[in-house]
Amino acid sequence: MFPRQPATVRSPSLALPHHTARLSLRSYTVDDVDDSLAYYASPTVVTYVPWEPWTRAEAQRRIVERIKRTQLDGPGSALSLVVELQGRLIGDVVLWPVDETMSRGEMGWAFDPEAGGHGYATEAVHALMRIAFETYGMHRVLAHVDPRNEASLRLCERVGMRREGHLRENAFIKDEWVDSVVFGALAAEWLHPSDLGEWNTIA
Ligand SMILES: CC(C)(COP(=O)(O)OP(=O)(O)OC[C@H]1O[C@@H](n2cnc3c(N)ncnc32)[C@H](O)[C@@H]1OP(=O)(O)O)[C@@H](O)C(=O)NCCC(=O)NCCS
Repeated sequence: MFPRQPATVRSPSLALPHHTARLSLRSYTVDDVDDSLAYYASPTVVTYVPWEPWTRAEAQRRIVERIKRTQLDGPGSALSLVVELQGRLIGDVVLWPVDETMSRGEMGWAFDPEAGGHGYATEAVHALMRIAFETYGMHRVLAHVDPRNEASLRLCERVGMRREGHLRENAFIKDEWVDSVVFGALAAEWLHPSDLGEWNTIA
């Protein structure tokens, strides 16, 4: 079921919106500018990401880009989804392939602090991992996290990723070289965790 070697590029189509127990994940629309700006304008939210707080113009530019990222259909593509709670936009997640066969994917996320502390980001990232493995047949997913980003470190652990490495001064962000902690999960282990303990318990 999970090839040991990358096979050919897979480009299955993902049915959206994608529903979890409490959330809906859907593609961006032009109407998402205000709700996205509500949290991306916050210096706190963008502390560990490689851009400054959004202005309205920046939000409009970014949303136009993200609207196009609706499927993984080859190198350079991305799946960029907003996360809704009862019809309210509370955050976003993104998955993109890091090799030409789309066997490996990288993820990112950001959520409105007003919706924090309820496990919504955890639930959405967990759903994104399931999409990566089950819909796109990825072999492995990973995330790079700034070691100072404690909320994201905890999130990675909650969704069942393993801390695989610590890369020194791996990214130049906001005028300084910063370390990255690499978290990863393998499809076979994550989808079938019976031998690995109780960590992968989110429905
Ligand atoms: C990373 C980020 C999404 C984490 O937000 P968060 O609110 O901690 O994450 P969740 O929504 O998953 O909530 C988890 C918290 O709710 C608690 N919680 C409550 N109910 C829960 C439930 N049903 N399931 C899971 N956790 C639950 C958890 O214990 C956890 O709190 P803790 O970390 O203090 O233990 C948020 O800090 C963020 O958007 N940061 C800015 C963007 C960013 O840095 N992105 C990452 C770049 S790599």
